Amino acid sequence: MSLSGLEPLPMLPDPLAGVVSGSLPKRKPLEVAPSAPLVRLRGFTRSFGSSRGSSSGSARAVIADLDLDIAPGEFVALLGRSGCGKTTLLRTLAGLDEVAGQEVTVPGSRAVVFQDARLLPWKRVWSNVALGLPGRGADVRARAEAALREVGLGHRLDAWPLTLSGGEAQRVALARALVREPQLLLLDEPFAAVDALTRIKLHELVLAIWRTHRPAVMLVTHDVDEAIALADRILVLEHGRIATETRVDDGRPRSAERAESLRRLLLQHLGIACKAQDSDAKARGNAQSNDNRTGARGEPSP
Ligand SMILES: Nc1ncnc2c1ncn2[C@@H]1O[C@H](COP(=O)(O)OP(=O)(O)OP(=O)(O)O)[C@@H](O)[C@H]1O
Ligand SMILES: [Mg+2]
Repeated sequence: MSLSGLEPLPMLPDPLAGVVSGSLPKRKPLEVAPSAPLVRLRGFTRSFGSSRGSSSGSARAVIADLDLDIAPGEFVALLGRSGCGKTTLLRTLAGLDEVAGQEVTVPGSRAVVFQDARLLPWKRVWSNVALGLPGRGADVRARAEAALREVGLGHRLDAWPLTLSGGEAQRVALARALVREPQLLLLDEPFAAVDALTRIKLHELVLAIWRTHRPAVMLVTHDVDEAIALADRILVLEHGRIATETRVDDGRPRSAERAESLRRLLLQHLGIACKAQDSDAKARGNAQSNDNRTGARGEPSP
């Protein structure tokens, strides 16, 4: 992939710039691949609330002085407590939020898939995928159809979104991202609402898409096992910064032993202390007793 599309996000004046909280020492980002990073953030801070608007009289930094590099074609997973700022970071990389005079570099072509597919119910499946694509008529439709075939939905091109299963709807959302040929694919808990079997199939699909098109991917997830199965590098966000980074250089699928040792390590990083031999059972037990955004799917115990 060419880096020529790299663009710094627009610099806007930020009345909240400089408001930083968090107690973690600053981490040096792990070295990414030898080529220049596709995504580069330095000292990135995102605050909400304002002196005028908040009752406490001060802004709150959700992301604080964060450094992040993502290499072209790298698959990164982002774990962390609910409310720690994962979506805020993803929105920044997607260009959905102002970055207000900060050092943020992202590629020109990006696409986002959220937990809900966000399809327009009055447009057919192919038309949802084609929505907003440059070009006209048959060419646009052909591109949308090719993307839908790639995600295994060649037989649902003219379906209405409300007739799709949850897994099918997420496939459409992936096709809608894919058709834009993104250099950076941003996934915000895209599989959280589907059943376990469908999730495994969607993992395979995402890996197939990634291997074929080689976008850089940032996957936000609460699921430690999902992060282990998919990512080259796993980040844990805490107190507004990358608290830990774990590189997974093994081939996919991971060996059972490697997956188990990574799971233990990540659960520890997430603040879930459990004996080594108990971690798997505990993780699965918690996952069953909580909804799919909590428990050992990556959520620390209170
Ligand atoms: N536009 C906003 N205005 C004010 N506060 C916000 C805004 N967006 C996010 N926040 C706050 O920032 C914090 C981080 O939110 P964010 O959605 O990034 O968390 P998250 O890590 O994605 O959580 P979850 O895992 O539950 O999705 C939360 O406390 C949230 O309330
Ligand atoms: Mg979120």
